[in-house]
Amino acid sequence: NMSATLIKGKEIAAQVRQQVAVGVEARKQKGLRAPGLAVILVGNDPASQVYVGNKRKACEQAGIMSLSYDLPEDTSQDALEALVDELNENPAIDGILVQLPLPSHLDADPILVKIRPDKDVDGFHPFNIGRLMQRKPTLRPCTPAGVITLLDSIGTPYKGQHAVIVGASNIVGRPMSMELLLKGATATVCHRFTANLEKFVGEADILIAAVGKPGIIKGEWVKPGATVIDVGINRLENGSLCGDVDFEAASERAAFITPVPGGVGPMTIAKLLENTLYAADVLHA
Ligand code: GUN
Repeated sequence: NMSATLIKGKEIAAQVRQQVAVGVEARKQKGLRAPGLAVILVGNDPASQVYVGNKRKACEQAGIMSLSYDLPEDTSQDALEALVDELNENPAIDGILVQLPLPSHLDADPILVKIRPDKDVDGFHPFNIGRLMQRKPTLRPCTPAGVITLLDSIGTPYKGQHAVIVGASNIVGRPMSMELLLKGATATVCHRFTANLEKFVGEADILIAAVGKPGIIKGEWVKPGATVIDVGINRLENGSLCGDVDFEAASERAAFITPVPGGVGPMTIAKLLENTLYAADVLHA
């Protein structure tokens, strides 16, 4: 009884990755080196291991050189910062990615600030967040940028639309609000202290769910004809993956909806490759 059109993130991500591969090939034709990405994983979080593995594989398929650093759980703050310093100085490296979350004894912020802004392919450095807030983005956070590509792919009009973002994280919710403002939407950010979440969700022409709690968004709350983007990736006890939105009920009301898996997730990786090529072509030309 589904009426919504599925937004096929996996297919759109494949197109972006193909474009990146063409760009990488063009560099090689010109005698330039392959773009280089350093991917750092600290510890043994199983979800992070999967994400990092997918990022490394995607690099290889696009012709990007990836350097893998798998550091033990008990890595010190100093050791991790020293590795970032070394990669900052390495001219073969265009991008440095530190997979989050870090083990709890490590402080992510001083590490993210240490990454040279022109190698910050995650777009988390305060300089790059500041550029986005000032409407002159350079390297942009991958997941929000990927959501914009999905919204563009269905011809989202943005201007005059109310975009409601549920979740105010540094990685997704906050930069997502800036991306949507930049497109001319009216952006509202809801979070754990929001009173009457249902009311805000019911007013959303564009709904972005980025909380990380299965079923927190009820399908019955969704405005008829809305576009629903589900950024949540939650592992259920039976091993299956689901988003933050009650998908079955939401797809009876929405005009467009992303699936989990196969929606936003693949776009995050595609945008990481795009950022790495951009760093090589533009920032390190
Ligand atoms: N953890 C969850 N999302 C991300 C991301 O986009 N980049 C990194 N480095 N860590 C994450």
